[in-house]
Amino acid sequence: MSSVDPIRVGSVSEVPEGEALLVPAATTGTVPITVFHAEDGEFYALDDRCTHGAASLAEGWIEDDQIECPLHGAAFCLRTGAALTLPATVDTRTHRVEVDGEDLLLYPGTPASS
Ligand code: FES
Repeated sequence: MSSVDPIRVGSVSEVPEGEALLVPAATTGTVPITVFHAEDGEFYALDDRCTHGAASLAEGWIEDDQIECPLHGAAFCLRTGAALTLPATVDTRTHRVEVDGEDLLLYPGTPASS
């Protein structure tokens, strides 16, 4: 269990597979976070800003369990936040996301693995 209350950020039907939902800082209470609906059917959440530069990962491309940055093409693992390819060398943060019926629930600041 998490000590942080989740935020309902949208519904499952709003985010088809291969699409992303940007949750602004005003909603997360921290930084912008993007929820990704990966091709495996699972939902994942990462900090929206690329660790290499000022790009929004919400505008990137999902392939398998990776998101490719739209600016210079670095790939990050949606499951772990690991920077997989150059030019990014710094991992990003994961956030726990759950599906409750039709609702997408985000736990800002709680790592996906906890
Ligand atoms: S800003 Fe993302 S790879 Fe450069």
